[in-house]
Amino acid sequence: MNRRRLGRGGPEVSAIGLGCMGMSEFYGQADDSESIAVIHRALDLGVDFLDTADMYGRGRNEELVGRAIRDRRDEVVLATKFGIVRGEGEERGVDGSPGYVRQAAEASLRRLGVDHIDLYYLHRRDPQVPIEETVGAMAELVAQGKIGTIGLSEVSADTLRRAHATHPVTALQSEYSLFTRGLEAEILPTARELGVALVAYSPISRGLLGGTLGTGDRLPDDDFRKNLPRFAGENGSHNEELVTEVRGIAEEVGCTPAQLALAWLLTRGEDVVPIPGTKRLRYLEENAAAADVTLTADQLAALDAAVPPDSVRGDRYPSMALIEG
Ligand SMILES: NC(=O)c1ccc[n+]([C@@H]2O[C@H](COP(=O)([O-])OP(=O)(O)OC[C@H]3O[C@@H](n4cnc5c(N)ncnc54)[C@H](OP(=O)(O)O)[C@@H]3O)[C@@H](O)[C@H]2O)c1
Repeated sequence: MNRRRLGRGGPEVSAIGLGCMGMSEFYGQADDSESIAVIHRALDLGVDFLDTADMYGRGRNEELVGRAIRDRRDEVVLATKFGIVRGEGEERGVDGSPGYVRQAAEASLRRLGVDHIDLYYLHRRDPQVPIEETVGAMAELVAQGKIGTIGLSEVSADTLRRAHATHPVTALQSEYSLFTRGLEAEILPTARELGVALVAYSPISRGLLGGTLGTGDRLPDDDFRKNLPRFAGENGSHNEELVTEVRGIAEEVGCTPAQLALAWLLTRGEDVVPIPGTKRLRYLEENAAAADVTLTADQLAALDAAVPPDSVRGDRYPSMALIEG
């Protein structure tokens, strides 16, 4: 697996990482032992950039990742996130206060069973706290050796600039895929100017671009995607038609639709690192192999024509309140 450097001074990581979220929540039933096998196989294949967050499974995802890497910590570039505070039910808040930054980091270190986190992200900006204060507290964690580098998620170009002026930011983790290109206008150019890597989450559009997942009523009731506007009703049917177009081009390329989605992201710049999520060995291996898929200019043009930037219907989340971009 070829490698990419995160930001100007950040670590080198595999060009394609592994998102671990779905191993604990949101995308249907998961099996811990299979998930651990997926993480081990990832490391064997050279996929060493693992992504988790304290809110995934309310801490269970960090514990799972911690168990999986217990004897292989040195092989991993470990990224986690803080800042989203969950209530008893579905309600969510955010906390970017300095006291909370310190408390959240200690809790993540404990759950992961590690003495440092390589890349620590603010998951969502707290509108009540100046970004300089949150990043200032994260910078103290860097100075203490508890975290290696700082990241942000789903912030605006302006917040990214302010944060970076406080302490160098290594990576911006935001949703980016063939189906989600809003950040190309302002946020990605700003990240580039500052030397901040773009870690592309939901690079397969939460499975939609994989071409096997249904939408609407075909999703089980306990699947979080059922609540997402892109998967609902007519939006879902329309978006599935776009996937059919993508599948046709993938067949010409000689790869799967998911591999095409990942290979496309890798063409967007050396500073883009997708982190597809899966809890299945088959998908993990398929996604890792996408690093070897090359696309011609004609194939890229065909993709652009088949899926123009604003062709996908439906918001990414039921409420976009916490998304700055
Ligand atoms: N910063 C943030 O706010 C944020 C938000 C969302 C996600 N993330 C991070 O980004 C990671 C990736 O995003 P994501 O998991 O939401 O979306 P994704 O990677 O776009 O898609 C994951 C879904 O695609 C399916 N899939 C994976 N590989 C496939 C393949 N080769 N063919 C067909 N289907 C395939 C998976 O199936 P199975 O579940 O069956 O394996 C899963 O349902 C997460 O794990 C998480 O770490 C961050």
